[in-house]
This record gives sequence, structure tokens and C-alpha cells, in this order.
Amino acid sequence: MRKYENPAFFCENRLPQRAYYIPEGSFKSLNGTWNFKYFECDEDEGYVKKDWSTIDVPSCWQARGFENPNYSNAEYPFAFDLPYVPATNPMGVYSREFQIEDAKRCTYIVFEGVSSNLELYINGSYVGYSQGSRLQAEFDITPFVKKGKNTVLAKVWKWCSGSYLEDQDCPRYNGIYRDVYILSRPRGHIKDISITTDENIINIDFEGSAEITLFDAENNVIDTKNATNKAQFKVDNPVLWNAEKPYLYKVKFKYGDEVISQKVGFVTYSIGKDNEFLVNGVEVKLKGVNHHDTHSLNGWTMTEDEFRQDLLLMKKLNINSIRTSHYPPAPKFMEMCDELGFYVMLETDLETHGVCFREAEELGYDFVTHPEVWPCQLPEWKDAFLDRMARAYHRDKNHCSIYSWSTGNESGHGDNHVAMIEYVRKHDKKRLIHAEDASRAAESSDYHKADTTHMADNVDIHSRMYESVEEITQKLDNPEFNRPYYMCEYSHAMGNGPGDIFDYWELVYSRKNMIGGCIWEWCDHAFNMDGVPKYGGDYPTDMAHCNNFCCDGMVFHDRALKAGSLEIKAVYQYMNCALSDDELTVTNLYDFTNLNEYDFKYEIKVDGEVLSSEILKLNVLPKESTKIKLSLPTECTMGAYVNCYLVDNTGYTVAQKQLEIPANFIKPDMMQGSAKITEDERFIKLFGDDFCYTVSKRLGTVVSIVKNGTEHLKAPLRITALRAPIDNEMYIKNVWYGEPFIGVLHENLHKQFDNVYECRVDGEKVCIKASVAGVSRTPYFRYSLILEVSADGVMKVSLDGKVKEACKWLPRLGFEVRTDYNKSKFKYFGMGPYENYCDMYRGCMVDWYQSDADMEYVNYVMPQEHGNHTQTKYLEIKDGLTFVAKDKMEINVSHYSAKTLMDAKHQDEIVKDENTIIRIDYKNSGVGSNACGPELAPKYRLDEKDIKFEFYIK
Ligand code: GAL
Ligand code: MG
Repeated sequence: MRKYENPAFFCENRLPQRAYYIPEGSFKSLNGTWNFKYFECDEDEGYVKKDWSTIDVPSCWQARGFENPNYSNAEYPFAFDLPYVPATNPMGVYSREFQIEDAKRCTYIVFEGVSSNLELYINGSYVGYSQGSRLQAEFDITPFVKKGKNTVLAKVWKWCSGSYLEDQDCPRYNGIYRDVYILSRPRGHIKDISITTDENIINIDFEGSAEITLFDAENNVIDTKNATNKAQFKVDNPVLWNAEKPYLYKVKFKYGDEVISQKVGFVTYSIGKDNEFLVNGVEVKLKGVNHHDTHSLNGWTMTEDEFRQDLLLMKKLNINSIRTSHYPPAPKFMEMCDELGFYVMLETDLETHGVCFREAEELGYDFVTHPEVWPCQLPEWKDAFLDRMARAYHRDKNHCSIYSWSTGNESGHGDNHVAMIEYVRKHDKKRLIHAEDASRAAESSDYHKADTTHMADNVDIHSRMYESVEEITQKLDNPEFNRPYYMCEYSHAMGNGPGDIFDYWELVYSRKNMIGGCIWEWCDHAFNMDGVPKYGGDYPTDMAHCNNFCCDGMVFHDRALKAGSLEIKAVYQYMNCALSDDELTVTNLYDFTNLNEYDFKYEIKVDGEVLSSEILKLNVLPKESTKIKLSLPTECTMGAYVNCYLVDNTGYTVAQKQLEIPANFIKPDMMQGSAKITEDERFIKLFGDDFCYTVSKRLGTVVSIVKNGTEHLKAPLRITALRAPIDNEMYIKNVWYGEPFIGVLHENLHKQFDNVYECRVDGEKVCIKASVAGVSRTPYFRYSLILEVSADGVMKVSLDGKVKEACKWLPRLGFEVRTDYNKSKFKYFGMGPYENYCDMYRGCMVDWYQSDADMEYVNYVMPQEHGNHTQTKYLEIKDGLTFVAKDKMEINVSHYSAKTLMDAKHQDEIVKDENTIIRIDYKNSGVGSNACGPELAPKYRLDEKDIKFEFYIK
């Protein structure tokens, strides 16, 4: 066994973890260019010439051309053979020089993150060892340094026993990927600092003596004292910290020429008597997201500025909570969480998911059986588990933003976890403890409780991932369920989605003990190759990978927003509005903010025209409502709405809500008189002076529309159900478009045949009876289609059909119209301006919008269906046809065919069609979040059997 394969050997001479701080006056960054040598096998170091190249630190070596990035989800990217790692273990050797001005001071070197381990040498002498990729390692190098020039050398292996504990679902990287620095501190400096608050008291425990000064957030001195080991400050009427108003006091420790600052927030976190989550005694819902450190060019390395941008964007999307899945982020990130205001679940660096795959015959997603094979239950791993918890705790214990600790993710639940929980409980009496694995184990009948002494009740929150709204409701309805329920992961935001978040939040708001949760996940992890985002399997060297499952963020890899981001923003927003008769109720969903800190604006719109509007300051306390009397219109042709907005002082809309006014629809008569009809053996023509619609009797559909001498169709009108599968159709797509082989039933919707039973003239109408079916299948839809044309050239299309009983719900159903490529600009009255689906539209409003096919394109990392607009009444193609719904329709205007999008795996593989493709749909199914979340809820499926749909073509 090599040293680094021994699970009990995870550090040597590493200093005990202390609270994170960088003393002013002692800091010297070692970021920058280092000499670097990559060895394909660590053994090569002995006999291969060390012709150094260079690398920038911090960075991941796979992001700098030494090996390729490798994305693996749950499967270990090496053999499962605890605790051994591959005999051929790549290694990176790093070295550089640094200056020491005063060797009499105490000198430390700090590595904020090195993957997977680190063996440290100073001036040629071995100093120590550490593992735990996302945890900090500090070494006392005073005995090793001299005044003047010194050399540091770090050996970093790709794998070590710790790699078994770091099986998080993300691209796997190596190297010195977080900051490195020297601290040159005065002798007798203080060590560690632990700060807690108690009502109006700040308690400080530290090792050493210092002059300590307390400041308020405006930098006014409140008090100063000289203290040894302990200090206490009393603050009269302290301003409390919360995520909405993150007020921070500051304590400064002065010793010699060194100054250490720590921010302090007065905040309490607790569970109330109804199992609600309380911040300073006020009920708060956790509007959360799971966060990974990720960058498409730099892997796990992110700059402070990039972290800040992420957090500011989260704020803009109304997120108030973060779970640091599944490891502590860079320490600066936590300082920013205190400063900007987030409720953080700090999860330590631990996941052993790949254990699920350990035996071929044991394949399956199961965390609770065979506890004897999980590291969490093996005594030789106990100290490594404890070390990971203790280091996370001590590094971040002073952050007021942390409301809960978490023992890690998807690792089974065993004695070693129990030891972690006990450790945190002993040290921290103020915060909550979370372990989804514990909650899962507690409710599993398979769990071998007898083998262990631990219990799930040891955690403060019942936490599960991806349970459906129904499953959670059932639990909450059970009178014996008497715990706060927390969704550590929900609403899997992969690709076009998520569509289920609103329903989760109806439930969250309706139950006190439903305390919220965290969307999976913040951002797509893609690797940028020549400008194209790539993912698992794109490198031939990928041994285990999970395709584009790493591209499942609520924002794109470059942090661009998608419709799903805006849906989340809208569901998480802090204002609700409702209309009852002529009374508008506005509810403040903030916990600590009066609505009068924003402008409230409403406008009453009829058919897109503003009838009246007003901007108000609403003095509404948190969780309270106010009512506004409106004078509402009673008639409309397209639709009448009250649009409500909450706008901050920079002009940014933090919340919006559209309410439909129940006005009477006065619809113009579209069909006056009748066009002339002629018929020959093959065609039926419906025409007037300047128009002619031609119906093919063989095809049973319109094959030509000529207006003023211009042909508008490039292909016959066609009924289809195909849309390019979205990531969230991972499973159902096999029912719709599976590859044909015996024994598997799927509808072959992408290989459609059209059969025509009858096409005849009946008075002024054309009556068609026909069906559509996938190859080798019975028709999924049999229909009658009636076409009528008015004297001035409006065609009424009336569809009446039946979906096959045995057919599962459909992705969509409607007409596909192909027209000239250049006829791609359009205006519509419908839900926009962003793409929307029946379960994902709350970032949009119904109104008039202008767009064109290119603007409709959404650049998903894996090309997929996009660009739908629900609730549409009217679509006018510039210089082209106009479509008017009798009631409503869904529309889509694109330069890409469904087939093109379906076949492409990356953005650079799609080619534009030679036509503009218009979809006039009866309906589309929702998008849901079934990539990892539950199946699409029945109410969002297009599963009606009787379809009636009418629209007009002008
Ligand atoms: C969960 C897991 C996450 C991620 C997600 C799927 O099971 O905890 O880390 O893998 O599924 O994207
Ligand atoms: Mg996992």
C-alpha cells in the first residue's frame, strides 16, 4: 500500500484547522507562475528528467492542457477497490521561489484547495502532507525557511484514498486550484478565533492576547479592550443580521504589527414549535440553490470577482439560500455570503456515491443496503470522515450566514457520520445539522438499524431530494410526521426547464413545516472547447462519464439566463398579487423588508393597450397585504390584464405578476361570405381575386397558399406531434421515439406516416378524414379536418380528432407550416417575450411582442426543443401569413427543424433549415424536471384523447 492509499493517513504535520482569516500585514500571495511537471505516473518522477514547464496557480491542470477534463457523475472514474487507487497514478509537481524578509517571524504556508492531495517540501525538506481537496491546509514552515530566497515544492497526486470520499457529480479536476499564500506572523500571534453571539453579547474565544476593537457597520468604534483568550462585548440594541438586511459588525484583533478582522452578525437560527424555520424568531422560507464552484475554462478555479458576480446574480433571481453542494466553497465565497446576505447550508467535502455501483450484480441506486461496504461504516475511515467535518466547521464557524452544517451527500449513513454529527453538536449549539443520508436511512425499511447505534433523529431537518409534490404532501399529511421538511435538492434545472417549481412552492407556502429547499443546481458545468461548450464523453479518454448531466444549471455555463432562470426568479419573488372583482391584493412575502422600499407599479392593459397605470409606495409590512381598488374594463378582443411590478431603486424589476381580468371577449366575425371552390381529380381550390388555397386530395391537406401572387407555403401543412426531446424527457422520449427493436413499445413519433381516408368538398367546406402514425404503429391520432375560406380569403381550420387510447401523453400536437426562410420576422399577442410552456411561464406576460426566428433560438448546451409561446391569440409573420386562434394556440417560429435539434449533441452541430418553420399547436406538454426530478405531473401532460382545435389563416 502506498502512503496515500491508507485511509487513516490523511495528514501529517498539518496545523489544526482554525477560523479563516488573513492577517493584514502578514500576507504574501504565492499565486502566479509556478514551475510545473506533469507525470503520467508518479513513479516516473524517479527517472524521468524534470524538464519543467510552467503553470499558473491557482488552476486545474486539466484546464491547462495536462490531461483532459473528465466529467463523471456517480461512477468512480477508477476501479472500486477500497482504499486502493490506480497503480498508474498521475502526479503534478509544482515548485517556485519565494522571499522571506524576516525569518524570526512565524512563517506559515496556506493552501486553500489542492486536489487530490499535497506533499509539501520547503528548501528540499519534507514538511507535511494533506488531503481533502476542498478543505484548507496550513503548515508551520518556520523551521524550514531562511531569510532571502526559499523554495517551495508540492507534489500533487491525481488520486489518493481521499478520492473515494470525493465522488461528487461534477467534472473532476486536479492541481493547486485555490489560492496559496505565505503568512509571516509576529511571534506570539493569536491562534484561532471563535465568535458567537448571544442576545446582545458578542463572545470571543481565541488563543493569545490582543487589543480587540468592535466597530459597527459604518466603521464607528463601539468599544476597545485588551484581552487574553476571551473577550466579551455588549452591544446595546444590536442591529440584527438577516439575508435581506445583512448588517455586519466588525471585530479587529491587533497584536504586534498584525491586524485580523472578523465580521460578526447577530442572528439566531432555530426550528419553531410548528417545525417552521426561524431566523431571529421570524419564520423564513429557504429559497435556495445548490452551488458548485465552476468555470467553463478554469474548472474549479474561480476568481473573487466571479464568485461575487454569481452571488449578485442569485440575489437578482430572488434566491436567499445556498447549499454548498457538496463541499465547502472557496473561503472568500463565505465572506461574501455574510456580506450580501444568504442563508447557507455548509456541506463538507464528502460524497461516496460510486459505492452504489460497486458490484455489477448490485447495480442500482441504493444507499441503505449493505452498510458494511460503505466507508461511512468502516472504522478505518472514521478519522478521515471526522477530519472533513471538523475542518469545514472550524474554517467557517464564524460566518453568520451559516444556518446549518451538512455532513455531505449521497454516502450512505453510518457510524462515521454519527461521529461527525456528534462532533458538530458538541462544538456548535446554535446551528442546525443536516444529513439527507440520515433522513433517507431513517425511513428505509431496508436499513440495518441493528448494525449501528446512530439515528436519523440526530439531525434537525428531515431532508430528501427530488420527491414529488404528491410524495411530500403525503408525508406532511401524516400526523406522525412531526419534523421540518427540507428539499436539499429539487426541480432539476437541466436544459429547457424546470417546470415544476411553482407547484413545490404552493406547497411550501401552505405548510409551516415545509421550510423550502435548493434547486439543483446553480450553473451548467461545461468545458469550453474552441468556444463550444462540451461535456462528459467528449474526450476519448473519459472512462466513466454521464454525458451532459453536468449541464443542469438554472443559468448557463457563462451565467446567461434562460426561461427557467426567470421562472425560478418569479416563483421565489417576494410579492404576490391577486384580483378579486375590482380589488387588487398585494402581499409582501419579504421577511424583514417593507414593500415601501420598492416602487409598486401596476398597469391595466386591454389588447395590449395601457388603459391606466400607477406607481405607488406601498407601506406593507413583511407577510402583510394591502388592497387597491381598480377600475377594470369589461370588454376586450385579445385579452385584458393587470400587470404588477415591484421595482428597486436601480430600476430593476424584482417581482412581477400578471392577472387576467375576466372581461367579455368580443370577437370579430372572421368568416364573411365564401370563397369560390373548384375541384379536379387531384386538387381542390378555394380562391378569390387575390388569393388561392389549394388542397391536395391525396395528401388531405393544404399544399399551397397564394396571396397577391406570392406563394407562402414551402411544404404541405402537416399535423405532427414531434418536438426535439428536452433533457427533462430523458425517460419519456423512449416511449415516443425509442429506437425500434422487438419488445419495446414506442410510438415512433419521429418517423411519421400520414394516411388519408377521405378528402371531399361538402358545400362550401372541404372535409378531410385522415390519421398520423409512427412507422409500424397504428395511428396515434385519427382526425377530421374541415377547411372553409371566406370571401376575403380567411381560411378557417377546424380539427376534431381522437388520440389513440393506448398512446401515452404526447409532447405536442399541432400544425407545422413551412414558409420562406426570409419570412421569419413576426409579431404575436401571446405569452412572451421568452419561451414558455404550460408549467414554465411566470417570467413572462401575455402582450404584443415582436420577434424573429433567430431571436427565438435558445442556445442549450445540448440542442433541444425551445421557443414555444403559450396563450397566443394572434401571430403575424411579416410579409407572410397571419394565424388567429379561435380561443388560443401555442406558437413557435424557428429556423431549425425538430429533427436537426434532435440529432445534434452540441451547439456547433446544428444547421439552419432552408425554411422558416412555424408551429401552430393545439398544445404542448410542460417541461417538468424529470431529468432527475419526478415524472411530469399529469396536469401538464398533453394527454387528452378528444382534441378540438380551431384557428384562422389570413
Ligand atoms: C443528486 C446529487 C447531485 C446531482 C444530482 C443530479 O442525486 O445529489 O449531486 O448528482 O442528483 O444532477
Ligand atoms: Mg451523486
